[in-house]
Amino acid sequence: MQFADSCPVITQQTIQQIVSRIDIVEIVGSFVKLKKRGANYLGLCPFHNEKTPSFTVTPSKEIYKCFGCGAGGDAIRFLMEHEKYSYVEALRWLAQKYNVEIEETEVSAEAKQQQLLADSLYIINGFAREYFSHTLLETEEGQNVGLSYFEERGFTRETVQKFQLGYCSNERDAFARTALEKGYNLEYLQKTGLVTIRNEQPADNYRGRVIFPIHNQSGKVLGFGARILVKNDRAPKYINSPENEIYVKSKVLYGTYFARHAIDKLNECLLVEGYTDVISLHQAGVENVVASSGTSLTTDQLRLIKRYTNNLTILYDGDSAGVKAALRGLDMAVEEGLNVKLVLLPDKEDPDSYVQKIGANAFRQFIADNRQDFVLFKLQISMQEMGNDSTRKSQLVNEIAETISKIDKVEDFTRQQDYIRQCSQLLKIDEQGLVMLVNKFIRERLHKREQQLAKNAPPPDAEPLSEEAIAAMEAAEGNVEVIFQTDEKQEKELVKILLRFGDMVFSEEDNSTVADYVFHLPYDFESLADSEVVRKILREYKSRYDEGSLPDRKWFLYHADPEISKQTALILEDKEADLSTNWKERFEIDTVYGDNAYLRDTISTTNYLILRKIKKLILENQQEMEKADTFELQMKCIEVHRHLKQLEMELTQGIGTVIFR
Ligand code: CTP
Ligand code: MN
Repeated sequence: MQFADSCPVITQQTIQQIVSRIDIVEIVGSFVKLKKRGANYLGLCPFHNEKTPSFTVTPSKEIYKCFGCGAGGDAIRFLMEHEKYSYVEALRWLAQKYNVEIEETEVSAEAKQQQLLADSLYIINGFAREYFSHTLLETEEGQNVGLSYFEERGFTRETVQKFQLGYCSNERDAFARTALEKGYNLEYLQKTGLVTIRNEQPADNYRGRVIFPIHNQSGKVLGFGARILVKNDRAPKYINSPENEIYVKSKVLYGTYFARHAIDKLNECLLVEGYTDVISLHQAGVENVVASSGTSLTTDQLRLIKRYTNNLTILYDGDSAGVKAALRGLDMAVEEGLNVKLVLLPDKEDPDSYVQKIGANAFRQFIADNRQDFVLFKLQISMQEMGNDSTRKSQLVNEIAETISKIDKVEDFTRQQDYIRQCSQLLKIDEQGLVMLVNKFIRERLHKREQQLAKNAPPPDAEPLSEEAIAAMEAAEGNVEVIFQTDEKQEKELVKILLRFGDMVFSEEDNSTVADYVFHLPYDFESLADSEVVRKILREYKSRYDEGSLPDRKWFLYHADPEISKQTALILEDKEADLSTNWKERFEIDTVYGDNAYLRDTISTTNYLILRKIKKLILENQQEMEKADTFELQMKCIEVHRHLKQLEMELTQGIGTVIFR
């Protein structure tokens, strides 16, 4: 991940500028081969394997859609899905492409300084990478020492070039001198760890070592690992870059840049320990592999993997400290929703040696045959350690229950049940008891989460209509059946109307707009909507309206909230004529508005939503009435009922725009 992620927020103006320049055909076209078909473009979907193209790009709506796998969205979504960028990273990519200068809100002098520093470090690393490659490939020492080492290890020239491997000459300060001559700042050179001060003079830190550049998601060099060539007990085997503004060890996995597409395609990420394991596997054609560089996994690294897949397979040598380190990361992995499997390699083998020994096909087969479930593996190991200690056993039962409780996603329910069954068998304890223990942990966490939410968020204002309520309503009012089938659709229609026609004239008399009409009705549509995403969009639209400006549809189409952007794309994608024809088929519509169908649609939709609310109120009032035990209360309910019925009638008939059968 990039340093840029933690930067201040990009200003709305910048986002608008970027968004206004987006040409979706150009963006998607730089990753997918597109052919023009009428008004659209067609290509092979990059998100699933297909032979006949079902991936379309619609420039007029600025969206892409695959009819095969259902992927779809705007240009930013495309970059996020395809390149696994975060929203901000996608914006930065676009800004660079379209030459938009990024303006950030509240950029303190300090933050700006940091950004500049980060840029400088990237530039220095880029320079060093080239320098070390050159030394490796073009100098005599490089070829004799570095290149021959790589050759001995079985790395081809192609592999060396792909991973941009290098060599740092054994001279005291060959790199430092060149870099300083080129004008690179000594302080920054030290920050990257490339140069140190020895005897008060700048000297190369990686002297006589082969160099493994470590890349970020987009291929820029974050830092280096430098391996010693001769066995030497006094010097460390690897010298790695120190942590700095761009290299944060806990957020980096070696190889993600080269592995990302393969991980995506195969829907599995293999995790190994070392640089050379990644490289060897790649060379053998196993490309969905990254390395943790010998440390235990961090949450940030797990999230990085989750950008691509939920399936993580850890390949470790059985005795290594790495397995124990990796085991410690287990709960986190489960919590992140990852499906973790473990493959233990034969004694004295690491993935590098083993794949070179048995070849890629046998290696793949070995993984397939030896994949074991991580949770069960951990349990087995702990049980071996436990022996007959009964205190330790109850501790272990609790631990495993807590681990299992972290699989609390609805879609993983079966997996959780499987674990409970298998673990209770292994532990020889009652299955129901384990179920209860697991549930206890889940409840505790839910409780904590609720308290957290109560502290941070306002209470939800719209209670969704229960199914019984709807059924009761339908029974009471046989004629509304049709309407309620289209509930969610109507809420989305309101969004569509606002996004498309919000700023169009509603009444020439007072120069009001469609948005004016909607927001001056005595109903709060945000709270009338059941759909969470509709509420979010309405809330934001309304607050912009209150500030005196209207957000255009691009604002929502390219929204930071992926749900909003996706729904906006879907809502806008709906056929334009949809609404009117639907209404026309179902109801007799007075066509006083002639060609201005949007006026009719506006009124129909708002009326529909209000009507729905009124029907709900009628129902509630009826229930109230049944419970009323005093005459006064009953009278009051009857009064309310009459009033609501009156409103209902006005809406359905009185205004003369929409007539419900
Ligand atoms: N490592 C490290 N410092 C060390 C030893 C190891 O940073 N002194 C990290 C490196 O990221 C290394 C990983 O741990 O890639 C795994 O270590 P190891 O298996 O010893 O290294 P390999 O890269 O596999 O190197 P080789 O196969 O050449 O021994
Ligand atoms: Mn190794």
